Amino acid sequence: MVVSTVEKHARKKAPHASRLYRELVPAYEALWPMVAKKRIGRAIGNLGLTGGQQVLEVGVGTGMSLSAYPRDVDVIGVDLSEDMLGQAERQIRDESWSRISVMRMNAEQLDFEDSMFDVVTSFHVISVVSDPRRMMWEMLRVCKPGGRILIVNHFRSPNPWIARMVDSAGAFTRHLGWRTDLDLQEIVSEMPLRVDRRYKTSPASLFTILSASKTAS
Ligand SMILES: C[S@@+](CC[C@H](N)C(=O)[O-])C[C@H]1O[C@@H](n2cnc3c(N)ncnc32)[C@H](O)[C@@H]1O
Repeated sequence: MVVSTVEKHARKKAPHASRLYRELVPAYEALWPMVAKKRIGRAIGNLGLTGGQQVLEVGVGTGMSLSAYPRDVDVIGVDLSEDMLGQAERQIRDESWSRISVMRMNAEQLDFEDSMFDVVTSFHVISVVSDPRRMMWEMLRVCKPGGRILIVNHFRSPNPWIARMVDSAGAFTRHLGWRTDLDLQEIVSEMPLRVDRRYKTSPASLFTILSASKTAS
């Protein structure tokens, strides 16, 4: 069997990611929604999703975002961590969300055919994967031409003072598997993508919301 470099890398990374997120689930569930849930809900609301659309969320985690999707769209959430997915599954069951499902999958090697989804979203994931550009290419590959891409994440500030300040926290956050130095422009350069809107919910926010469309080429 031929095993690609990415697959080998994913296999090597999987135990770390799984262990890390298993340990983090309780703290994550308690604190993270206070920081991020509202921002994600607003970003999903701004997509103006319509009934019957097919949505993929990459790195769905415990499913914090799922309540924000309209009940008449079909949502598949993927994540590498079974522990995070377990929480998401419980929520889907408890809420009887018949059009939402989750499955274990590597963001850097999505097991979907090309151009399957109207919308592909991802929140706070691109800075924890081993190859952010590879993940972005995968999101674009499975998105229909003209389809939408929505990303919420921390990216390196264009302001050198802020960038340096945040970089100094990078040594700590890297232990948690999070990079603080991603340059959004570098990630999306030369990709078939048109940035429709790039914004923050407040000037001091560390998180950027990128709303984009897949172009035809
Ligand atoms: C910071 S959490 C964000 C979770 C969720 N999107 C949220 O905003 O609450 C990062 C998530 O990415 C997942 N993850 C990390 N590497 C991944 C990969 N290569 N493929 C799929 N999911 C991955 C982790 O398991 C974790 O659930």
